[in-house]
Amino acid sequence: MNGYNETAACGVVFTTSSISSLNSYGYSPHPLSSYIGWIKEILSKSGLVKPFIISITASTSDELTPMISFIQELRSTPNIAPLVAIELNTSCPNVPMVSPSGYIPSSIHPLLTALSDAHKQDKSLTIGLKLPPYTYRAQFEAIIETLREFDLGTFAFLTCTNTLGNSLLFSDQVEETREEPAFGGLAGDALHALALGNVHTFHELLQGEIAIIGVGGFVCAKAGAAVVGAATILGKEGVRAFELLTAA
Ligand SMILES: Cc1cc2nc3c(=O)[nH]c(=O)nc-3n(C[C@H](O)[C@H](O)[C@H](O)COP(=O)(O)O)c2cc1C
Repeated sequence: MNGYNETAACGVVFTTSSISSLNSYGYSPHPLSSYIGWIKEILSKSGLVKPFIISITASTSDELTPMISFIQELRSTPNIAPLVAIELNTSCPNVPMVSPSGYIPSSIHPLLTALSDAHKQDKSLTIGLKLPPYTYRAQFEAIIETLREFDLGTFAFLTCTNTLGNSLLFSDQVEETREEPAFGGLAGDALHALALGNVHTFHELLQGEIAIIGVGGFVCAKAGAAVVGAATILGKEGVRAFELLTAA
């Protein structure tokens, strides 16, 4: 809600051998109010119809509920409601002492309750979850079982996946000059096989009940993804990434 207190140690590195990255950021240092202001400014430009997914996170439903209300206030502006969706980030691996709720059904449940309550009041609210990379079947089944405790129509999309935490790259494997190894969440080509496998498994288990956004070294929709997102290639190539992605 108020922006994350970033330390000087937070950063991102890119590998020399592939389009992969490793970052140690927590969340955005900008408060939610800044994002809301920027979206209002962009959408106030006449004729611009651009959808936004606002990715938010919280550890408790008490923290999450006012954030949802703030976004709903934005959506109450004429014509904006259908353009603004919420994604709950359940999966940042880099926050000290905070375990990603996407790995812990008992932690994510109260957050899903807050989202479900908002959806009951406003069925036009599009809600998704940013999930961590899962590595064995019971993890997929556990999160789906938790989602099924709510009306499954509450959740419009699952974004698979966030970075793979606790990864390490030696200094001679990265483009940046540094003495120490880099430690944090792995993304890009190095994550692609796992991200693709996550999309595939959710697609198989959910049979299209929830749309899947593929993220993790993705260059095109594969394995059941409805759409793809990208971070590493954008960080490495800048806006040229979109030319590369559309050419892929
Ligand atoms: C520098 C950097 C910062 C990121 N920050 C966030 C974040 O704030 N929230 C989030 O959900 N994911 C964040 N991610 C993860 C990406 O959204 C994405 O899930 C992950 O990098 C895999 O996609 P990619 O292989 O295209 O990079 C970040 C990734 C990078 C490289």
